[in-house]
Amino acid sequence: MKRIAILGTGSFAPEKILTNADLEKMVDTTDEWITTRSGIRERRIAEKDEVLSKFAHGAAQQALERAGMDPKEVDLILLATVTPDQPIPATSCFVQHMLGATHAAAFDLSAGCTGFIYALSIADQFIRSGKYRTVLAIGGEVLSKYTDWTDRSTCILFGDGAGAYLLRGEEGERGILETALYADGSLSDFITMPGGAGRYPPNVKEHIDARLPFIKMRGNETFKVAVRNLTEVSLEVLRRHGLTPADIAWLIPHQANTRILGAVADRLGLPHEKVYMNLEYTGNTSAGSIPIAAAEMVEKGLLKEGQVVLSSAFGAGLTWGGALIRW
Ligand SMILES: CC(C)(COP(=O)(O)OP(=O)(O)OC[C@H]1O[C@@H](n2cnc3c(N)ncnc32)[C@H](O)[C@@H]1OP(=O)(O)O)[C@@H](O)C(=O)NCCC(=O)NCCS
Repeated sequence: MKRIAILGTGSFAPEKILTNADLEKMVDTTDEWITTRSGIRERRIAEKDEVLSKFAHGAAQQALERAGMDPKEVDLILLATVTPDQPIPATSCFVQHMLGATHAAAFDLSAGCTGFIYALSIADQFIRSGKYRTVLAIGGEVLSKYTDWTDRSTCILFGDGAGAYLLRGEEGERGILETALYADGSLSDFITMPGGAGRYPPNVKEHIDARLPFIKMRGNETFKVAVRNLTEVSLEVLRRHGLTPADIAWLIPHQANTRILGAVADRLGLPHEKVYMNLEYTGNTSAGSIPIAAAEMVEKGLLKEGQVVLSSAFGAGLTWGGALIRW
């Protein structure tokens, strides 16, 4: 049977570390509050001159190297992000040039923190249809540049970085088994960055003064929907494949908050040791978080061929989705 196998994973993070102790000096918060409410102790933050293409390129390069693949064999580059280098052109085009992936089509896609699951599903469709054979799916963000560093309810959560999967259609049992994608635009005001585009353009001083080009979030309401939707979509992709949570080796979820992920694990009846979490030292890197976590697991030798692995995510939109993979 033909499946879309993951031949390589990669990740890239900026050097600079911002700890909870650093945040204590910036806003009215404590390490204890941040750790107990979110599970995050530190996050990586871009320097002024660092942009997403640098991180996305680093992650993609590593995925190609681990797969032993020439960049010229890549047919399509998908970059899931809400924090591109520039509005025009798509950041994936910068990455295509930096990689020397001269035969690849490239586009960015925006689905908030669910972006990487959307990218996996799109890659799956392109390869399954026979249109392309080899696809680089990248997720990454430089959220620090859009963070309101005076808003203690959001600035403690986010981090920067990117991750990538190199996907290829191969005969065999390994690969993407199932994906499911959802959106509910009626909840679009839960996580937003109102300014910087058509509604509140960046060339109006009042928009900047009102801090519109920054991320805003209704954290508590998002929390509740996140637990419900992550649980439901996880069960759905398993059910579609005739499986239950007991059949999976790992849940590699979007790294939003340890309390959210603990609640999801409990609802799925999944031992917490099967939920991979690295947000303690990455923060929430939005579309980057799943492939960054998976690349780290590969480095640690935690992902073994044949294991069934589930990834699920939720984010701005609201969007949510799941992907079931035989590693
Ligand atoms: C953001 C989040 C950690 C806040 O935790 P919470 O338990 O929901 O906290 P609340 O927002 O209800 O705020 C509780 C209190 O803490 C305060 N608070 C908020 N941020 C704080 C901080 N950094 N330090 C100290 N106190 C803080 C609030 O002002 C509030 O005080 P009040 O009761 O006097 O009004 C949590 O809601 C969350 O993780 N939500 C999901 C967010 C998410 O994952 N978003 C990304 C989607 S991809």
